[in-house]
Amino acid sequence: MAVVGAGYVGLTTAACLADLGNDVAVVDVNREKIAQLKAHQVPFYEPGLSELVERNYRAGRLRFTTAYEDAGPGAEYAIIAVSTPEGEGGEADLSYVEAAATSIANCMDGPLVVINKSTVPPLTGDMVSNVLRKTKAGEAAAVVSNPEFLREGSAIQDFMHPDRVVIGSHDRGAAEKVALLYSTLEAPILITPNIYTAEMVKYGSNAFLAARISFINEIARICERVGADAKLVAEGMGLDKRIGPSFLDAGIGYGGSCFPKDVKALAALAERFDYHPELLHAVMAINRDQRMLVVDKLRECLEVLQGQVIGLFGLAFKPNTDDLREAPSIEIAKVLLAAGAAVRAYDPAAMEGSRRIMPDIEYMNGAYETAAGADAVVVVTEWNEFRYLDLGRMKSSMRKPVVIDGRNIYDPAVMRGHGFTYRGIGRE
Ligand code: UDX
Ligand code: UDX
Repeated sequence: MAVVGAGYVGLTTAACLADLGNDVAVVDVNREKIAQLKAHQVPFYEPGLSELVERNYRAGRLRFTTAYEDAGPGAEYAIIAVSTPEGEGGEADLSYVEAAATSIANCMDGPLVVINKSTVPPLTGDMVSNVLRKTKAGEAAAVVSNPEFLREGSAIQDFMHPDRVVIGSHDRGAAEKVALLYSTLEAPILITPNIYTAEMVKYGSNAFLAARISFINEIARICERVGADAKLVAEGMGLDKRIGPSFLDAGIGYGGSCFPKDVKALAALAERFDYHPELLHAVMAINRDQRMLVVDKLRECLEVLQGQVIGLFGLAFKPNTDDLREAPSIEIAKVLLAAGAAVRAYDPAAMEGSRRIMPDIEYMNGAYETAAGADAVVVVTEWNEFRYLDLGRMKSSMRKPVVIDGRNIYDPAVMRGHGFTYRGIGRE
């Protein structure tokens, strides 16, 4: 089989499918990326992925190429996992998906099941079918939607132990053929009889999770005003089986390559079909404001930002990844720098990428170095190594002992006990 796109999703999918015993060729237009992979280097950080790629590459089950023709011949499946960036007006830009489908059509040599894993709005499957049908061989292809639900940082675990596998196609036989790929995993498989339903499951899921985050962030705003503790409120809510405990962490809002773009794309799609998605717009507005909450709290504690030294703990959009796409850190740093503050930061994985996009930040060697001499520290990403610091050592090294905990990783009472001026999100 061929997997098109060696990004987070494509490479994880390819390595996992190879590990399940399949012969997988990874095709990517980016020569540098393919060269790196051939030199045994995974171009981004994802726990366990290097080892998985290496094992399957050495076993001959995984190959890397920039040429579609090399991926076949005889491939039965082609999986499209190219990026679907935000296009004009918020709708997903499908030009890479189209380009991948065209290249697949041009080198198909037999009946092929084309699987769409990229996050694409309903009706994209039809577009892919139309592209394929432009060639003689392409007429024999079937298109299947099989959305991914991989979280960065736990992508392999999510692939191998999914809550569910969703497969949709107008061609039932093709959908069942895709289900075979997952037959060794213990997971419910939902086959939907039309492709649009499967495509919509992905958007529905991501929009719902984003809505949960904005919901708990709104509750946190109210908690602050009435003197309740949002972390405990979420715990109490989550014990209700109908609600459940996950995705109820109030913080600085959601980032990453999926939620921001998918909610926007779903809203834009709805508008195109003359429906005004009130709730989705509120989800996005709350998320935008939430990013700035830590800056408001800094202003409240420091009075002025001009000339202050602010240390950021974490830069990646979430822990266990080096991904900075839509990371709140970028906007927070920009606003602080514009206000005349000096910004310094430490992140265990994302500093190299950050240096390229935010050269005005001073990059430090660890949490203690970031705090030493600073007027305030902001917890931006909840990496484990920030949770268990020697707080006495940290406090005595700071110029002013202000900690704005954007991820609620510290206990307010313990922080106050150490003499910090402490502000969490939705808690005193
Ligand atoms: C994934 C999904 O595919 C996307 O739909 C979802 O919304 C976010 O997650 P991701 O794997 O994170 O995207 O994207 P990225 O890391 O940017 O990788 C995409 C790869 O596709 C890149 O390596 C790029 O070079 C490759 N690509 C892009 C092609 O091979 N062909 C193209 O025409 C365009
Ligand atoms: C997400 C989806 O979870 C995954 O199923 C999909 O396929 C791709 O998009 P990912 O973007 O890797 O995965 O990260 P996720 O762990 O879902 O977190 C997204 C964002 O929400 C992060 O910025 C995180 O900090 C934030 N978040 C998450 C919260 O603010 N509170 C929470 O309770 C959970």
